[in-house]
Amino acid sequence: MTTTNSRIPVTKAVVPAAGLGTRFLPATKATPKEMLPVVDKPAIQYVVEEAAAAGLSDILMVTGRNKRALEDHFDRAYELEELLARKGDEDRLRRVRESVDLANMHYVRQGDPKGLGHAVSVAEQHVAGQPFAVLLGDDLIDPRDPLLARMIEVQQELGGSVVALMEVDPSQIHLYGCAAVKPNGFGEDVFQVTDLVEKPDTADAPSNYAVIGRYVLDPSVFDVLRETKPGRGGEIQLTDALRELTTRSPETGGQVHGVLFKGRRYDTGDRADYLRAIVRLASEREDLGPEFRSWLREFVASELQD
Ligand code: UTP
Repeated sequence: MTTTNSRIPVTKAVVPAAGLGTRFLPATKATPKEMLPVVDKPAIQYVVEEAAAAGLSDILMVTGRNKRALEDHFDRAYELEELLARKGDEDRLRRVRESVDLANMHYVRQGDPKGLGHAVSVAEQHVAGQPFAVLLGDDLIDPRDPLLARMIEVQQELGGSVVALMEVDPSQIHLYGCAAVKPNGFGEDVFQVTDLVEKPDTADAPSNYAVIGRYVLDPSVFDVLRETKPGRGGEIQLTDALRELTTRSPETGGQVHGVLFKGRRYDTGDRADYLRAIVRLASEREDLGPEFRSWLREFVASELQD
């Protein structure tokens, strides 16, 4: 298999966080949905931690309206830190500082939220011709089920672009981008993506492989995005640009591979999944878990009685 850019290491991550978050209104009227807490950390911090854990220390966040909270969260909070230091509250001081030292953060504004494809396109200058990772700011991958490192490995070996795939119930595929795949001989969890469709009806879906919010992209995606017309929902869809890349030759940055993810993942932009993430992560926490689990058991038991 021919490779493109396979020897240029992946060092940069782009985190789109400029969507309107309408499914979460009114909570997201003045606060980005990526700042909603999952237990006691905003969802976006888990995402930045994941990028850093995969060795990506240069992170470009694509922000829009209400960007202040996102930037402030990854910046020093001098007054707060001084107060905690004076009180000798070392534990909280450490937690407040954690987000600051994770990565080198950069920010760019999207202007109008014209879709995920458009959000990625505003990263072109920063990415500067290298393959790069994209992590959606509201998509949470459980840190115990690493995915990004495998995707980077596949990109480095095979070149082209890599998407993350998850098997979903066919009745749910209309909520996702959907991939048609064929084996490519690189391992049981890796496929060649032959086609992509954004949010198909169940009857038209080529498979039940949903594209989830992690990508490692060849920089040729920017040329394609420039030509990509608004698609479903009137938005410039990343799926449409990737579909075009599936048809291009490896020599021109084409080919898309899919890595099958079987771990735990939460769409924190969806209210029900957001609640699942909180319940699961809280009940597994050493500090909160025991008390929360015992309350949860009682609650479930009383619900079953009714
Ligand atoms: P979503 O489609 O889930 O975000 O995009 P949304 O449009 O904010 O959500 P709803 O449907 O209105 O509730 C996935 C990710 O892409 C970002 C979002 O911030 C989210 O992290 N995004 C989406 C952008 O950065 N810009 C866009 O124009 C659209």
